[in-house]
Amino acid sequence: MAGEILLEVEELCAGFDTEDGYVRVLDHVSFSLEAGSTLGLVGESGCGKSVTALSIMGLLPHPAGRVESGSIRFRGRELLELSSEEFRSVRGKRIAMIFQEPMTALNPVHRVGSQLTEAIRLHQPGVSTEGARARAVQLLSRVEIPEPDHRLREYPHELSGGMRQRVMIAMALSSSPDILIADEPTTALDVTIQAQILDLLRELQNDTGMAILFITHDLGVVAEMCAVVAVMYAGRIVEDAQVEQMFAHPIHPYTRGLLNSIPRLDSTPKTELNIIPGVVPALNEMPSGCRFRNRCEFARSRCAEAAPELRAVATGHRVACVRASEFV
Ligand SMILES: Nc1ncnc2c1ncn2[C@@H]1O[C@H](COP(=O)(O)OP(=O)(O)O)[C@@H](O)[C@H]1O
Ligand SMILES: [Mg+2]
Repeated sequence: MAGEILLEVEELCAGFDTEDGYVRVLDHVSFSLEAGSTLGLVGESGCGKSVTALSIMGLLPHPAGRVESGSIRFRGRELLELSSEEFRSVRGKRIAMIFQEPMTALNPVHRVGSQLTEAIRLHQPGVSTEGARARAVQLLSRVEIPEPDHRLREYPHELSGGMRQRVMIAMALSSSPDILIADEPTTALDVTIQAQILDLLRELQNDTGMAILFITHDLGVVAEMCAVVAVMYAGRIVEDAQVEQMFAHPIHPYTRGLLNSIPRLDSTPKTELNIIPGVVPALNEMPSGCRFRNRCEFARSRCAEAAPELRAVATGHRVACVRASEFV
């Protein structure tokens, strides 16, 4: 049902035990994903996007990684409170995930066919060998892999990066998930292949109605793929809005910096991109208050006082900046 909130992440705090003690990576992260919609989670490398995805999937590395507090609800059910058995009925089934590097999820020693049919059997325990194979061929055709019969007999390393990503997508689709979490699925691919995979994901979404949590560091990809976007900086969401609104009226100084750093087609070749000066602070050296303030040209002393809360500046547009109202 369109408009239904499928996934609701609320005040999520998560992190890792390290030799220097526990470090929090995600700091009160909140967002929600509507049925059939695509939410972009965007931010620089290391800001916590993958940790967010892994928290939702219950795949944080054990025992170092853990969710400290907060809530992750799927169709209103608290995933953090499910028994591991109950959780298995959600993870990989109702919510599936694809990764930047498909080889992390594909087993190099098994043929594509056996991995795909194994995934199919997991979701359809009663299926016959023939039935699973037919479904595997159907799934590979669905992700537009030519000669699927032939491909099923190959090993992952025999496939190109783009083909491997298509196989990953086929495996994710094998359970007909309600949500696909796509964690930088095209970052490792060259531009042409990237465009093909994005087209494929859009088509599959049109056909199936699945919602997508699209994780990327690339705002260009967000503009192409997403209805709504949440911008993450150093483990916090700093701004979220409908994509058109975000691109037309970005408010948070970090978002504006990110948008300025996109190469424009109409700019003269070789003009310097506006890179945001400074670097993301290390996890154990986070500044008090706003975590962006050390890089922010608009920072004031009050920015050091408390973590700014996400507040609405317009319908559906929230910003975590104490000066937000001055920038509207
Ligand atoms: N297994 C781990 N142990 C300790 N720290 C980790 C681990 N995995 C990720 N981190 C830290 O969590 C932060 C967020 O990482 P990640 O979510 O992978 O970023 P990205 O936004 O690039 O996906 C980084 O600072 C990273 O160093
Ligand atoms: Mg990542």
